[in-house]
Amino acid sequence: MLDGKRILLIIGGGVAAYKSLDLARRLMERGASVRGVLTPAGQQFITPMSVASLTGDECYIELFSLKDEAEMGHIRLSREADLVVIAPATADLMAKMANGLANDLASTILLATDKQVMIAPAMNAEMWANKATQRNIETLRRDGILMVGPGAGMLACGEVGPGRLAEVPDMIEAIEDFFTGGLRPLAGKKIIVTAGPTHEPIDPVRYIANRSSGKQGFALAGALSAFGADVTLVSGPVTLDTPPGVTRVDVETALEMDAAVKSALPADAAICVAAVADWRMKAGAGGEKLKKSKEGIPALDLCENPDILKGLSSMTEGRPALVVGFAAETEKVIEHAKAKRERKGCDLIVANDVSHSSGVMGGDDNQVHIITESGVESWPSMRKDDVARALAQTIADTLAH
Ligand SMILES: Cc1cc2nc3c(=O)[nH]c(=O)nc-3n(C[C@H](O)[C@H](O)[C@H](O)COP(=O)(O)O)c2cc1C
Repeated sequence: MLDGKRILLIIGGGVAAYKSLDLARRLMERGASVRGVLTPAGQQFITPMSVASLTGDECYIELFSLKDEAEMGHIRLSREADLVVIAPATADLMAKMANGLANDLASTILLATDKQVMIAPAMNAEMWANKATQRNIETLRRDGILMVGPGAGMLACGEVGPGRLAEVPDMIEAIEDFFTGGLRPLAGKKIIVTAGPTHEPIDPVRYIANRSSGKQGFALAGALSAFGADVTLVSGPVTLDTPPGVTRVDVETALEMDAAVKSALPADAAICVAAVADWRMKAGAGGEKLKKSKEGIPALDLCENPDILKGLSSMTEGRPALVVGFAAETEKVIEHAKAKRERKGCDLIVANDVSHSSGVMGGDDNQVHIITESGVESWPSMRKDDVARALAQTIADTLAH
């Protein structure tokens, strides 16, 4: 797939630099040629010798190299490539790129290149979350820089959180996608995603909730964003990190979610993944905690919440071109989901079995059925991330027609 492609691999000064050696190898196995540039900080983690031995080319390290600059090395390197990949992309390199600095070989190449640049950030979770880094990421996205990862998990510094270098197969996939032109099929599309549960207060300390973890909705928001969409994620109370590039609006109740979705309109597509509570307390939560009393157990006088999916589907003006609902069922999954699609008037329903034995609610895997007017497509059990990517592709295909 990468036959004859020339990749300039810039390796920044992070602990994950050693993984770039594996990346170089795997790219070459797929037919690409790889040229390595190692920053001075990168040399603290891996050696130019390893890079040169693996790539079969010189490892470029110096801006002011008499030998290389006799041929204007930094310009040549920046142009004699089909794609420039930075892995790991340090916070420092991203800051330089976002601000147009060029005070070493890597940053000068990045300023001089006329080729697409893809970054694979890796750093400590606090460095990643820092407002300056997030500002730089936003700038780089707006500048059209492609990004793969970072993932979340145990970091080299011993802390847990976002900032892990994307896994090598994921970097390879992103690079292959770039060359097959499939990476940003949703560029220019605005998509609203709802995710997580809603909490409906009973009194100031108690609430009605459900077991939705938000994982599938968050994964979908991330996949849509990676496909180039401008994603607004309206999230109920969950403990998940916002996927890169996604605008997140946090809400608690169904009423708040409904209002947030309405204010995020207009959109090309709305994907309702959230498990919105059907009912709330008729009289609101009240100011005081309910007390046990001799009069017995208090009755929960409930009323119906707004139906966000139905509301979007039945808009007469400015309806999103595609409205997708999720059906969480515990029995007769397909039959109930088909009926739900008819009832709500949405274009597509993603149905899944959330019975306790399926392990879907809160778990990492999901098995879904795609229900449209033209029929039912059942997908095999996959990780929620993979379901998200496949769904993002389905959404891109549908919006393209
Ligand atoms: C042990 C150690 C590990 C580091 N790991 C990272 C890292 O993973 N990501 C990062 O952005 N910076 C990391 N840094 C800081 C960078 O090495 C530092 O900001 C350096 O100036 C980056 O230079 P470069 O961007 O030219 O490669 C680390 C520093 C040390 C000492």
